[in-house]
Amino acid sequence: MADARLVVLISGNGSNLQAIINAAASGVLRAQVVLVVSNRRDAYGLQRAEKAGIPTRYFPLKPYRDAGRAREEYDWDLAQVVNAHAPDLVVLAGWMHILSPVFLNDVSARVLNLHPALPGRYPGMDVVRHAYEAFQRREIDHTGVMVHEAVPEVDAGPVIAQEEVPIYSQDTLEELEARVHETEHRLLVEAIRSVLT
Ligand code: GRF
Repeated sequence: MADARLVVLISGNGSNLQAIINAAASGVLRAQVVLVVSNRRDAYGLQRAEKAGIPTRYFPLKPYRDAGRAREEYDWDLAQVVNAHAPDLVVLAGWMHILSPVFLNDVSARVLNLHPALPGRYPGMDVVRHAYEAFQRREIDHTGVMVHEAVPEVDAGPVIAQEEVPIYSQDTLEELEARVHETEHRLLVEAIRSVLT
């Protein structure tokens, strides 16, 4: 059986992309990353992909905005960019652009998203900081990570995998972020593996 074809969408550092690249290289994932797309030129994840010899595409929204073109046109064109690489699975790994139904309906493969909180918790930005502050207010005693099927609603959709992440009273925000990322790197690879098999 040929390796599954993954297209990964990123916007930043790309540590989760790196976890996928490493898992594919070691054979933990019977897959290959065939394209990495970023909507930010300065995303370090693009350099990670180039170092691994993976094709990359910088695909910003700004030219559409500047031309007065609708977001849906961007999403449609983005789906064509992805579809051109015949993916078996699309993974949103730190992709910071809300995808409309136009993308989700037109892309030719399932789309998984990674969210650094448990289902229904802290959709959107600054997720780990929100959890950290809620812990300080004694509203929660743990946080978590989830991988879910992408739907138009932000950070929602059928859950593929989830895991709790402890928070300790002496934690700094950075320590909690590091623990969340560690869990993400492992859970995302497990989730991709479960979907592919
Ligand atoms: C991850 O925590 C992801 O859950 C969130 O953005 C972060 C991206 O991290 N949406 P990285 O770029 O993979 O290091």
